Amino acid sequence: MKKILLFVLFLSLAHTSCSKDDGTAPQGDGKLPELQIATLREAPVTMGAAVSVDALKTDEKYRDLVVREFTSLTGENAMKMDALAPAQGSYKWDDADYLVQFAADHGMRVHGHTLIWYRTEAWWLGQILSTDKEVWKGIMKTYIQDVVGHFRGKVASWDVVNEVFEDDGTMRDCIWRRYIGDEYVELAFRYAHEADPDAVLFYNEYGQDYSFLKNQKVCEFARSLVEKGVPVHGIGLQFHTHTAQTEEHLKYAIRCAAALGLKVHVSELDVRVNDEGDPDRVFTEEDAAAQQAVYRYVAQGMMELPAEQCYGITTWGVTDAATWLAEEHPDWPLLFDARYAKKPAYHGLLQGFYK
Ligand code: G3I
Repeated sequence: MKKILLFVLFLSLAHTSCSKDDGTAPQGDGKLPELQIATLREAPVTMGAAVSVDALKTDEKYRDLVVREFTSLTGENAMKMDALAPAQGSYKWDDADYLVQFAADHGMRVHGHTLIWYRTEAWWLGQILSTDKEVWKGIMKTYIQDVVGHFRGKVASWDVVNEVFEDDGTMRDCIWRRYIGDEYVELAFRYAHEADPDAVLFYNEYGQDYSFLKNQKVCEFARSLVEKGVPVHGIGLQFHTHTAQTEEHLKYAIRCAAALGLKVHVSELDVRVNDEGDPDRVFTEEDAAAQQAVYRYVAQGMMELPAEQCYGITTWGVTDAATWLAEEHPDWPLLFDARYAKKPAYHGLLQGFYK
């Protein structure tokens, strides 16, 4: 019954779309046509990037590129609990405030990432001796409301909870779940909503690009939250994906996330080529073409959504010079190369935006 309902919802997605009708000139030489726009700021889907505050402060070329191309910013690390809360009840706002001011100065939206994530819990949570559920609810409420309250009216949206499920579809262990129970997720949304009723609240998850089980779990879970009246407004698809990923799966994941009528954010897009972790790998023309196609599929998938559900596409980083993927072995997952020039991937987006 649930599957039938989902299927009906897929089919009933309105035909109004994110697309604009401007920009039409096709490219010659047998290439796919591209939307003709000066920069991604004019894209029909809000384009964002996860940024490093250090790079914004110190690297002029980086800063200029961000300002030229993007209309939404996410802090790659600046708004995580381990960065914001060095001690219980004490906050370090500098980097996050800098990011928010930078965005305001350049007419950009800010997406907050992330209030609750098992990997960035503050160290001091481990020092708390109480196992009382009410105490833990209070700690979570205070943290979320202090942070969301601090940025109220300045941060448009939040990843409230990040990565609720394991790959096998079971709910992931984290300190909040251990002491509060599964209810920690819905409480996090309620607390965030109380602190800023205008903020758009996302449940952000990974793996929908490669796992049908993950898609199903996320949809079922989001539906259960909506049915309980939890203020969840959108689903974030991280999409840390790779060049072998199929058009069908990527577009299916986007439709699946949209099936409940919530907003959809491709929230952490990057397309790796060196899945094998080969230390001697180079970036070939074939890699660039395959990567361009994946960026195109994602843009097309988002363009198919009703406009009000299409929240945006955010790349997880700006250039190949600095990406979390290259920390252990070489990779080239982003829209701009290490010299900050546009890659074929960029044209993949423009092709995907072409209608
Ligand atoms: O800030 C310290 C710095 O003071 C210290 O000198 C340095 C030494 O290693 O570490 C710095 O912190 C690192 C931080 O990135 C900033 O560079 C952390 O160790 C490192 O764990 C952290 O990694 C980030 C990771 O999330 C964990 O927070 C990555 O940059 C970031 O790209 C990654 O992003 C996540 C998303 O938030 C959620 N989805 C998956 C995605 C990739 O893992």
